[in-house]
Amino acid sequence: MNVLMLVVYGISLAYFALTLLWVLIPAFYGLPSKPTQPDRIRKALRLAGLKPGEVLYDLGAGDGRVLLIAAKEFGAKAVGLEVAPVQVAFVWLRILLGGLGERVQVRWANYYRADLSQADVVFIYATLRELMKLAPHLEKTLKAGTRLISIAADFPEWEPSLFDEESLIFVYEMPPRQGSLMTYLLKRAG
Ligand SMILES: C[S@@+](CC[C@H](N)C(=O)[O-])C[C@H]1O[C@@H](n2cnc3c(N)ncnc32)[C@H](O)[C@@H]1O
Repeated sequence: MNVLMLVVYGISLAYFALTLLWVLIPAFYGLPSKPTQPDRIRKALRLAGLKPGEVLYDLGAGDGRVLLIAAKEFGAKAVGLEVAPVQVAFVWLRILLGGLGERVQVRWANYYRADLSQADVVFIYATLRELMKLAPHLEKTLKAGTRLISIAADFPEWEPSLFDEESLIFVYEMPPRQGSLMTYLLKRAG
């Protein structure tokens, strides 16, 4: 009985610690661990025209859902960069269990220090503040023609090439055009 209680106690403690780390590490890096809804991901990938064989990077892979949808439903090669180790281990398990090792990778990495030049499409779900900080790195490392998807927040100094107002999805083509959402909307209106 005592051993059983100890095991239950140990499992509960481990579960609590992992849950805490799942939330705290992303928060430490300035982002919530909130994932994008699957239908919003599909809509975003369709809007950016992700094609089979193209390489998609998810900056901050979270639970890996963007990677799995990109690989399984769009035939893309997907690479996730994630700074939180619990999330990395979780995504790695999903890749292993799904037999997706050929098409999906997850790397324990900080996207500010990553070389993103292999990406055809980049996905990011972050705050406006984070996008403003990240913009110079994206401008420097993304190759011309890369489509950059941002969920919910826009890059204030760049003009999107596509915008879905219903789901708040912004798509930019690199190198970015100087402007804003406003310049895009004015052009679209007239
Ligand atoms: C809002 S979640 C988005 C998860 C996933 N992309 C989605 O849309 O469902 C943001 C993720 O970015 C990760 N993150 C934050 N800063 C990061 C950084 N500098 N490098 C890599 N990952 C980072 C967090 O740990 C978190 O898992």
